[in-house]
Amino acid sequence: MANVTVIGAQWGDEGKGKIVDWLSERADVVARFQGGHNAGHTLVVGDNVYKLSLLPSGIVRGTLSVIGNGVVLDPWHFRDEVAKLKGQGVMINPGNLQIAETCPLILPFHRDLDGLREDASGAGKIGTTRRGIGPAYEDKVGRRAIRVCDLAHLDDLGPQLDRLTAHHDALRAGFGEAPIDREALMAELRDIAGFILPFVQPVWLTLNKAKAEGKRILFEGAQGTLLDIDHGTYPFVTSSNTVAGTAASGTGLGPSGAGFVLGIVKAYTTRVGSGPFPTEQENNVGQRLGERGHEFGTVTGRKRRCGWFDAVLVRQSVAVSGVTGIALTKLDVLDGFETLKICTGYRIGDQTFDYLPAHAQDQAKAEAIYEDIEGWQDTTAGARSWADLPAQAIKYIRRIEELIGCPVTLVSTSPERDDTILVRDPFAD
Ligand code: GDP
Ligand code: IMO
Ligand code: MG
Repeated sequence: MANVTVIGAQWGDEGKGKIVDWLSERADVVARFQGGHNAGHTLVVGDNVYKLSLLPSGIVRGTLSVIGNGVVLDPWHFRDEVAKLKGQGVMINPGNLQIAETCPLILPFHRDLDGLREDASGAGKIGTTRRGIGPAYEDKVGRRAIRVCDLAHLDDLGPQLDRLTAHHDALRAGFGEAPIDREALMAELRDIAGFILPFVQPVWLTLNKAKAEGKRILFEGAQGTLLDIDHGTYPFVTSSNTVAGTAASGTGLGPSGAGFVLGIVKAYTTRVGSGPFPTEQENNVGQRLGERGHEFGTVTGRKRRCGWFDAVLVRQSVAVSGVTGIALTKLDVLDGFETLKICTGYRIGDQTFDYLPAHAQDQAKAEAIYEDIEGWQDTTAGARSWADLPAQAIKYIRRIEELIGCPVTLVSTSPERDDTILVRDPFAD
């Protein structure tokens, strides 16, 4: 079976959207399995730029796209994103877009709580997207969530809403906020239900049927492994499992369906929001990477923090996500550097590490140990074949493969869909 699971192998924004879009030409189904509209996936097709947060990137090509149960869904955002993409000429209808019945809903008070907590956290804030992702997942795990399937049973919502509002009203009172206006919430839910329900399906069944028919399923991860709730730089993480294993639990297809795990890896490192970042360059190197790479958040517009490639982190991501091969993106951003640095280990106090220790204080203290590698002066921008790459760029790629213990499957050399070098076809495995 030739499925592909795409995941971010750093702190998100590795270029997953571009690669999913490129691969989706040959996929029969594209499925999101975790996260929500905290994601921001950018697709560039000629003069058209598409930014997707909640919808699977396959929708732009019209490929059957499904939002799996592992995703938290803001129904009003869903409506807006559908409208925005339709405005760009993308065909979207219940024939090519499905939402799992069991997705928990992100409600307005989740967004409020996300913002209230961030505002109250001072220097300790996570730097979330303030879109209510964390609070919605808390309610899912707390067994209080209202789910997509509840939209078809709004008249029976009473006892569920009692539990949910009792929980949130106590939290809101702690922030000096008024209780939830239940009438207003019910009116908003009734208003949005009619838009959402036509898209709702038992997505696990759709995917299992597709699998049985030998169709190609492409899983689209959001965020990145270092933002994973278990494996990331906790507590500076998102509230879902971002590793490849979640493709199974977040859709209902089962672990044998994951197929080729394609880790998306930027040729340097970026991070948005707070938290440890051992190779961060708060100097002209970081500035140059940020400017050349246009490193501004797709969702929040925040400036992304930038630094050198960290082979230790990516090696760890390759391990915990079971990555089969990587897509190395934004190689062109490194054009023209005299010397490049790659992090090969950390120094913490008088100890050295070849992995990132779990404790937040150790992570904050980790100093990168670098090796230097000669840069290249020719351009890689727009390269579409291995032969177009300068010899030093190939050496850089080969060194990364050695250090992370994983082969390069694709190389991306510009935002444009077709500026992609195929080394090995992930669907062919
Ligand atoms: P995602 O969240 O992983 O989908 O990544 P984002 O879309 O948030 O950020 C990646 C940014 O880099 C987007 O603006 C892409 O258009 C752009 N991009 C993707 N691949 C390349 C590449 O190879 N070179 C350059 N210069 N930009 C790229
Ligand atoms: P894509 O899919 C980069 C970060 C936020 C913050 C932390 C928690 O585009 O790669 P949250 O709102 O999820 O509770 O925020 O996670 N974050 C991302 N960073 N790319 C993303 O998605 C992100 N989604 C969340 O900046 O540090
Ligand atoms: Mg992004």
